[in-house]
Amino acid sequence: MTNCLVTGGAGFIGCAISSALAQQFDKVIALDNLHPQVHKTSERPSALDDNVELVVGDITDQALWGSLLARFQPDVVIHLAAETGTGQSLTEATRHAHVNVTGTTRMLDALAARGIVPTRFVLSSSRAVYGEGAWCDSNGNVSYPGQRSDSMLESQTWDFPGLQALPFCADTTQTKPTSIYGATKLAQEHILKAWALSFGSSANIVRLQNVYGPGQSLSNPYTGIVSLFARLAKEGRSIPVYEDGKMLRDFVFIEDVARAILAAATTVRTDVLADIGTGVSTNIWSIARIAAQIYGAPDPHVTSQYRNGDVRHAACKVDLAAEQLNWKPETSAEDGIRLLCHWIDNGNKRADA
Ligand SMILES: NC(=O)c1ccc[n+]([C@@H]2O[C@H](COP(=O)([O-])OP(=O)(O)OC[C@H]3O[C@@H](n4cnc5c(N)ncnc54)[C@H](O)[C@@H]3O)[C@@H](O)[C@H]2O)c1
Repeated sequence: MTNCLVTGGAGFIGCAISSALAQQFDKVIALDNLHPQVHKTSERPSALDDNVELVVGDITDQALWGSLLARFQPDVVIHLAAETGTGQSLTEATRHAHVNVTGTTRMLDALAARGIVPTRFVLSSSRAVYGEGAWCDSNGNVSYPGQRSDSMLESQTWDFPGLQALPFCADTTQTKPTSIYGATKLAQEHILKAWALSFGSSANIVRLQNVYGPGQSLSNPYTGIVSLFARLAKEGRSIPVYEDGKMLRDFVFIEDVARAILAAATTVRTDVLADIGTGVSTNIWSIARIAAQIYGAPDPHVTSQYRNGDVRHAACKVDLAAEQLNWKPETSAEDGIRLLCHWIDNGNKRADA
């Protein structure tokens, strides 16, 4: 009998892995509080596989953990539940820390109190743990210029002068989060690793780039920029793009992410720490343009607006994921955005309703 617990299992990524998990494990429970910012209604999401039991509750609730673990001992825990608004986390730091950090420790305390040691944890960490990451000058010297200051952004100095951003790589890029959200995701990594090492379990960590695709919440204004672009383009509007539109991102398709998480959940490896992206960076304006072209909307326009805490560039290498998880991304941005638009147009299964 193998049991899998997925915290945040009714969300975008949780629903996308639910069918495969239901086939792989004897019993799967999704623990999710159906957060109103993510879920339009408190109904069970239609995209959650029928064979997954949904337990509605909050990961910070000690009593809930007690009753759940009394009847269900997970062999594998996939820890997805989180407050995920990067910009929001600057003004709602306590809420982010409470769910992401205390929620994680509550789960671990509840497991320890009952002597339950899952074989494996999988953590969906984030590119946000790197902050601005490493940059390189023309002589090849690598530095960590840190966070862009408000005065830099106000004067529209978007890049660090004379430097070029390097792609993130989990075994070489230092972690220097520039958002509260990123700091809490890094804390989750350290907490899970420390617990797993102490109790003879393992913590496989995947650091996700920007995930998008069918099933994403269309009602959450704090996440999912590609779905926002697609909705604006569908309305025939010119998409407004921040800064100078040249921020680089690595948009990775939900099905590729689902395969990576499943691989991390079922591998015999105990030391996975890998970046999950496409390995290809694209500027935000070009992403907006793909959506505009699909719907025949006018070209996107640059607004020079900015958000504190947004990093300038974020992309990753996928070599570690290939080596550790035998995983490769399969969907290009063009194909993925087309699939997302098709899903938006046809109103298929959703995680947010
Ligand atoms: N989607 C991305 O681009 C992305 C990128 C990097 C990392 N991640 C990480 O992946 C994980 C899942 O992301 P997602 O895109 O599926 O997000 P999502 O918001 O769709 O799903 C998160 C789920 O967690 C639930 N949840 C939130 N707070 C909870 C709480 N206190 N108790 C119980 N459940 C709670 C929500 O109801 C939601 O169903 C998160 O940990 C996030 O940090 C996502």
